[in-house]
Amino acid sequence: MIKLLTIIGARPQIIKSAALSRAIKDKFAHKIHEVIVHTGQHYDDNMSQVFFDEMDISQPNYNLNAGSGSHGKQTAAMIDGIEEILLKEKPNCIVLYGDTNSTLAGAIAASKMQVPIIHIEAGLRSFNKSMPEELNRIICDRVSTLLFSPTKAGFNNLLKEGFKKNNPGPYSLDNPKIYHCGDVMFDNSLFFSSFTNHSTTVLSDNDLETGKYVLVTIHRNNNTDDPLRLNALFRSINRISVESKIKIIIPLHPRTSKLLSTNLTPDLYSAVKTNEQIKIISPVSFFNMIALERNSFLIMTDSGGVQKEAYFFNKPCIILRSETEWTELVKSGSAVIADADEGKIVKAFLHFKKSKKLKFPDLFGDGNAAGFICKEILKNIK
Ligand code: UD1
Ligand code: UDP
Repeated sequence: MIKLLTIIGARPQIIKSAALSRAIKDKFAHKIHEVIVHTGQHYDDNMSQVFFDEMDISQPNYNLNAGSGSHGKQTAAMIDGIEEILLKEKPNCIVLYGDTNSTLAGAIAASKMQVPIIHIEAGLRSFNKSMPEELNRIICDRVSTLLFSPTKAGFNNLLKEGFKKNNPGPYSLDNPKIYHCGDVMFDNSLFFSSFTNHSTTVLSDNDLETGKYVLVTIHRNNNTDDPLRLNALFRSINRISVESKIKIIIPLHPRTSKLLSTNLTPDLYSAVKTNEQIKIISPVSFFNMIALERNSFLIMTDSGGVQKEAYFFNKPCIILRSETEWTELVKSGSAVIADADEGKIVKAFLHFKKSKKLKFPDLFGDGNAAGFICKEILKNIK
């Protein structure tokens, strides 16, 4: 039996962790014991607890209640708490997801204690070091032992950074192993999408009809904190709703909600608030989000996860960033990088309004990435 310590903290990590926890419970319970640590980075019920309830994830064994704060304060509180738990639990390895401050804290605490790190979503790069996430993921990859990349592009990034292919074990911090293994988020979308359409009323509750609305999410710090960018994004949303007479639904991240009234000009704020075609709602549960995604006409987002889910559900996506880690989406023609540029966003929307046949070739595995990861952990971690 090996003991695996999973670190989660931000919304997408809780969601991603459901796939591995499910695989462990269903197929490897006699070989893997999972201990879950929630850093408390996200703490509102609709950013955290709702996912445990809905996706049947075991309650965390520990909650560090790190909460919000500056990068240094938040990360330091998490490192402190994770170190204590590592000393107590003495796990065989630690599992880290993605690129948040919770990931970074786990990477620092575990590597200093020589606990092997399993990094899920390794190798993704935006090549933009002004993003906190880019720093977090580079640091985490450098100190990981098993690196699981969901895409070919991610795997190739690791090769370019000097990681080796086909190197023999045993694997360690000095001899890491890299994999191209598919995406645990795709596992989840396949697993949960079969029953979400029947179990949610999110469309009727918001007066939406299938194929007749745009779904928008915005939370990236450079979009929320920069008034110029936030104004450009909401001007585009307002314009598209008016010119194309289409409804727009925005489940808004708390970070963005808190900044909307201060960072939008009073005129734009009032235009958005009084536009009956635009509906801003609180963050929704995963089942509701999947229902909103799969029934939408198009998705506009700066989220990494939502970009991919748009692809999983064969929806065109306008990426509200200047670059993406998920370059395959853009290459497929189903996603366009439009940044926070009103002209580019409106142009991309009109382009997708005309495009009839988009292609969505399989890029994210077979829906069993989590099972593969468990097997490799069992093979390579002692
Ligand atoms: C974090 C991640 C980002 C990820 C996102 C997923 C980092 C550096 N960023 O960004 O990569 O895409 O999570 O959603 O780790 N807040 C609440 N309630 C909550 C959580 C946050 O009100 O439950 C508000 C607080 O005002 C907080 C702000 O949101 O200061 C930002 O939260 P934080 O976790 O620091 O970063 P995110 O923007 O959520
Ligand atoms: N999500 C959700 N409810 C929402 C918005 C997003 O359940 O109101 C889910 C979404 O389906 C995806 C994940 O949260 O699985 C993406 O997280 P987020 O956009 O916060 O972060 P990112 O992926 O950019 O790190």
